[in-house]
Amino acid sequence: MYRNHVNGTLRLSDVGSEVTLVGWVATRRNLGSLLFIDLRDTTGIVQCVSDHPDDFPDVRNEYVVQIKGRVQAKDVPNKNLPTGEIEVAIEELNVINKAQTTPFIIADKTDALEDTRLQYRYLDLRRPVLQNNLRIRAKIVRAAHEYFDSHGFLEVETPMLNLSSPEGAKEYLVPSRIHHGSFYALPQSPQLWKQLLMIGGVERYYQIAKCFRDEDLRADRQPEFTQIDLETSFLSMDEVLALNEGFLQKAFKEAAGIDIELPLRRIAYWDAMDTYGSDKPDTRFGLLLRDLSLLKKSSFEGFGEADYVKGIVVPGVASTTSRKNLDELNLEARKFSLKGVIALKYLNGTLEGSFAKFLSEELKAELVKYLDLKENDLVLFASSASRRQIDNGLGALRLLFAKKLELIKPNTYDLLWVVDFPMFTPVEGENRYVAEHHPFTRPRDEDLPLLDTHPEEVLAYAYDIVINGYEAGGGTLRIYDHDTQWKIFKLLGLSDEDVAKKFGWFIDAFNYGAPPHGGLAYGLDRLTMIMAGTENIRDVIAFPKNLQAVDPTSKAPREVTPDQLEILGLELKNEK
Ligand code: AMO
Repeated sequence: MYRNHVNGTLRLSDVGSEVTLVGWVATRRNLGSLLFIDLRDTTGIVQCVSDHPDDFPDVRNEYVVQIKGRVQAKDVPNKNLPTGEIEVAIEELNVINKAQTTPFIIADKTDALEDTRLQYRYLDLRRPVLQNNLRIRAKIVRAAHEYFDSHGFLEVETPMLNLSSPEGAKEYLVPSRIHHGSFYALPQSPQLWKQLLMIGGVERYYQIAKCFRDEDLRADRQPEFTQIDLETSFLSMDEVLALNEGFLQKAFKEAAGIDIELPLRRIAYWDAMDTYGSDKPDTRFGLLLRDLSLLKKSSFEGFGEADYVKGIVVPGVASTTSRKNLDELNLEARKFSLKGVIALKYLNGTLEGSFAKFLSEELKAELVKYLDLKENDLVLFASSASRRQIDNGLGALRLLFAKKLELIKPNTYDLLWVVDFPMFTPVEGENRYVAEHHPFTRPRDEDLPLLDTHPEEVLAYAYDIVINGYEAGGGTLRIYDHDTQWKIFKLLGLSDEDVAKKFGWFIDAFNYGAPPHGGLAYGLDRLTMIMAGTENIRDVIAFPKNLQAVDPTSKAPREVTPDQLEILGLELKNEK
């Protein structure tokens, strides 16, 4: 027997027990007459001690050892450790395996570069913080199994090797050995399959689904990620949301001990954009976007007729915002295609800044009153002909200031639904649309006539679950009749031939009695990030890819041999 106790659960009530423990040496201090070993296993760390160090073999950090000893109360408890009230008096110490000096110290606090940590992920994973993240993740998955299982959902797996679809830019392709020149695509989500399951009479489906998207990576995006994916038949949107709120409540409670009050708030897409400058608003702080059309009354001639003029008021920072700070803000705004932002400072009871010369005294007074400005407030504003552009730009500045000014209380959880999404997003500068969610989304019944006249005004039965400013999940009710589905594809610019070739197999199914259906998918990685309190998605995935989509542990992707290519009927165009 390697052990009869685990390390992390030993308490004062175990004092006097003879224990046999195993684990890794987290730290070892030999003070000549005293030896301390902090022994780590997956449950935690316990301090082991001896006043006759010479009786035992020398051990180093990360050696795997077995320690036999007696639990005793500590003279001075260590409040930072759950086991801090006790220690184990070492009676026997056996080295099970040795370890080289590790490339970084294995502890929660580390200054090792992330690349190094990911290269040696198996060492990184020994850090208690990562083990805890994996545990939270597993608890969310368990909550999903329990909840959906007990609500009549059937877990069904769907294929990984799929037909490539037109939004193919994001797809990972897999060459076929048997059909040279033909490719499978890895799923971006199980969307079409889960709809076919509904047509197949399953009524309630869920799955912990691996998804693959070859897109630019960010702190909350991975090329390979996991969804908790579900679909239902014969439910209204309210029923779908209520069902999902029950799951969220259970998952937050069981995985993170957080109580969520139901029902969750709902915000309409355009309200969220107008007020927070985002379709995933973080509503834990103010800095709301304000309409500043009244600035069009100034003598400034740069605003166009149709321009939106909007701004935010940042309290208490006017005097400390330098030229350099403003240049940085302009850079940020330009990332969102804004020309820039203009600053007005409310200092010594008046508005200052290069724009102030365009404002009459009356207009200044009107602005101060309208925005309820206080001494030292900073007003930042921008103008644009595009509503989405100005909102997105100011929304980003809003977040920037919230971080900088630490306006967000840690350990607060803000869950809400964003609803009433537009069905289509116009492509800037082009006369075409893309689907805001996806082409299978059902337009609201009352908006169906607008499909022929004003598609951009059509709202959809679509909903995103937004938590602390993250899009943690999203879904829609689906189109379930052949003709509407065909029409949406056409509005998205697909030719008859394209629709038939790419989606014929799918929409044919709508001719055989498709039930009304709808569902949702959560980003499991994002849910875990939120509950674990990290902003880095790689912290909640055992073996993540880095920002270059490389797996730093195995170094995938790598070139393959000419023989492998030959078998697949492939030839590289630009040999290195
Ligand atoms: P959507 O594309 O919105 O919807 O994805 C659902 C959720 O998956 C998460 N997510 C990601 N997480 C990490 N890395 C990524 N690259 C990534 N992309 C998406 C997000 C997102 O909210 N089939 C539809 C769902 C439906 O309509 O039922 C879908 O995939 O948290």
